[in-house]
Amino acid sequence: MKIRTSTLTELKQKGIRFAALTSYDMHTASIFDAAGIEVLLVGDSASDNVLANQGTAPITLDEMIPFGRAVAKSAKDSLVVFDLPFGSYEVSAEQALISSIRAMKETGAAAVKLEGAKVEQISRIVENGIPVMGHVGFTPQTVHALAGYKVQGRDQQNADRIMNECLAIQKAGAFAVVLEMIPATLAKEISEALEIPTIGIGAGSQCDGQILVWQDFAGLSEKTPKFAKNYLKLRDSLGAAAQEYRSEVQSGSFPPADKQF
Ligand code: KIV
Repeated sequence: MKIRTSTLTELKQKGIRFAALTSYDMHTASIFDAAGIEVLLVGDSASDNVLANQGTAPITLDEMIPFGRAVAKSAKDSLVVFDLPFGSYEVSAEQALISSIRAMKETGAAAVKLEGAKVEQISRIVENGIPVMGHVGFTPQTVHALAGYKVQGRDQQNADRIMNECLAIQKAGAFAVVLEMIPATLAKEISEALEIPTIGIGAGSQCDGQILVWQDFAGLSEKTPKFAKNYLKLRDSLGAAAQEYRSEVQSGSFPPADKQF
């Protein structure tokens, strides 16, 4: 079944949770799509998970577009969301709309995501027919302003601020909001207060959906964040397979007779 933004609202209304993963290429997109993962996020986490940058800020729109196109072409049913990178939407609502139109036209994604309570940007993009996903709590693009990788909203004042940001993002027309690294109790309160679905990452189990960076989910990353779970040990398996291949090449047992012309 083709997942649309309205599907996520319906799932929330029925109390059915949904799963999201990041994806930046054709293989993961088609595998996760076939597995029924409802949302594929072409995350700016490609910056530090694919392009070997420090953090997400360095990646550009030009660099992200090919990842978005590969994922959108390869996913049949999952909702593909394109993450607007740092520098592509902060200056004005106009800039945000121009970047979003480019992302939609050049990738085939079904929605865009941006970080922070940028209500003018969100309204402008939504008014022009492009669905927007919000993202609050810990926002990796502004890690330096947040004094590092820290749980947000632990004190009442900041918890209230995050709740208000979510309400403003919903009012601006977003169809869902990512809650990153906030206390589980706060995420539960926000999920109950909002009509639009919340998608948690390091935000406890009471969100309407969950998202993980696929390299963390698959155990490919060198270090997994505390909130993530490795559903397999891909780094170890790939390493062992590469060693086996190398030793077979050295011994001459690869390629075997049946793999030669
Ligand atoms: O880019 C990304 O992977 C994200 C998720 C952490 C939500 O924004």
